[in-house]
Amino acid sequence: MNVSAHHSSHLGFDYIELWVGNAKQAASFYKTRLGFSLFAYRGLETGSRTWTSYALRQGEVTLVVSSALPPGNETFNAHLARHGDAVRDIALAVTECESVYERAMAAGAVSVHPPQKHVDAHGHIVLATIKTVGDTIHTFVERSGDGTTFLPDFVTTDDPDSLTDRLPSVGGRLLDHIGLNIPEGDLEPLVEWYERVLGFHRFFSIDDSIVHTEFSGLRSIVMADPSERTKIPLIEPASGFRKGQVEEFLEYHKGAGAQHFAILTDDILASSQALRERGVETLKVPSGYYTRLRELLQVGDIKLQEDVEVLAEYDIMVDFDENGYLLQKFTKPMSDRPTAFFEFLQRRTFNGFGANNFRAIFEAIEQEQERRGNLQ
Ligand SMILES: [Fe+2]
Repeated sequence: MNVSAHHSSHLGFDYIELWVGNAKQAASFYKTRLGFSLFAYRGLETGSRTWTSYALRQGEVTLVVSSALPPGNETFNAHLARHGDAVRDIALAVTECESVYERAMAAGAVSVHPPQKHVDAHGHIVLATIKTVGDTIHTFVERSGDGTTFLPDFVTTDDPDSLTDRLPSVGGRLLDHIGLNIPEGDLEPLVEWYERVLGFHRFFSIDDSIVHTEFSGLRSIVMADPSERTKIPLIEPASGFRKGQVEEFLEYHKGAGAQHFAILTDDILASSQALRERGVETLKVPSGYYTRLRELLQVGDIKLQEDVEVLAEYDIMVDFDENGYLLQKFTKPMSDRPTAFFEFLQRRTFNGFGANNFRAIFEAIEQEQERRGNLQ
C-alpha cells in the first residue's frame, strides 16, 4: 500500500458532472425523482454564455448536470452523440491542487487543463483536470474560503420548487463509491494507473469465480485513495460468457465510463420508501433470493435489525461477514440507453461491496437485459 505523504492530500469526491442533452429537464428529474436540491446555477442569466449547469446536492453528494449552449461545441456534441447523457467529470477534492496535478503529470497523466486559480470575495478555488478512462476526466478541486462559491461562474441559489418541497426526503448522505466499467483487458493497466498517477491502492477485489451467472461474468478491483474516502470500483467483463451487463453498458455507452453512483444512507428503509413515493424505477430482486437469505441467516452468526419480509418488499439485498452487514438497492438506468444507474446502501459495520450479492444483482439486471433484447 502506497500511503506516501505527498498523496495524502485527497479529501474524497467533490462533485460528479454529467453532460446531458437538456440540463434543465435532467435537473428536474434528479430533484423530483432522486431527491436532490438545487444549490447553484450558471447560465445565460448569470453571464455564462457557453454552459448551463445545475448544481444539485443531497447530503454531501454533489451532482452537476450541464449542457453546452452554443450549437457548435464539438467536444460536447461528440460526447453526447457517443455516450448519451453520461458522466463527464469525477471531481476529487484535494488540499493542494498544484502538487497533485504535477505529480500526476510526472507519472504520465494526460492533461486536460493545468491548474487555474479563481479568486473572488469568498475565497479561492484552484482547478486542474486530467483524463481517466474513455472520455471521462478527473478535476482536482482545491477550496479555501467561506464555501459560498461552488465553482467559477456559478451563482448560489435556493430551490423554490413547490413539488420537491412536498416529497419525502431520500436521505442520501455521501457518495460511497462510483463504479467505472471498462473493456476486458483494461483492468490491470488501469489499477496500475490509479496507483502510479493518483497514489490510490487496492481496497477490495472480486473475481469471476464468484461473480458469474449462466450468461455473464466480471472482475472488479476497488481502488481507494490513502484516506479511503474516495473509492472507485473498476469493473471489466470476463470472457467465455454470453453478453452480460458490463458488455451491454460498454456497447450503449460506447466504451469505458461511469456505471453507477453508490449513495450511502443511514436508513435504507426510509430511503426506499421515499424512492417509491417519488416513482423511481428500481431493480426487482429475483425470486428465491430471500428464501436463500433466510437459510444463510439461520446458519450464520449474523442477526439483522430489519425484517426479511420488509427487505423483500423493497427489493433490498443483504451481504454480511462476521463483523456486520450491508443493505443495498439499485435503480434502473437513468436514461434510455441502459447505462448509468444509482445504488443506495446502508452499512452496518461492514466495509465490503456486496460481493455475495453480485450473482443476484447480475440475474436481476439480466432479467431487464432480456426485456431489452440484449441478452444474447
Ligand atoms: Fe456499488
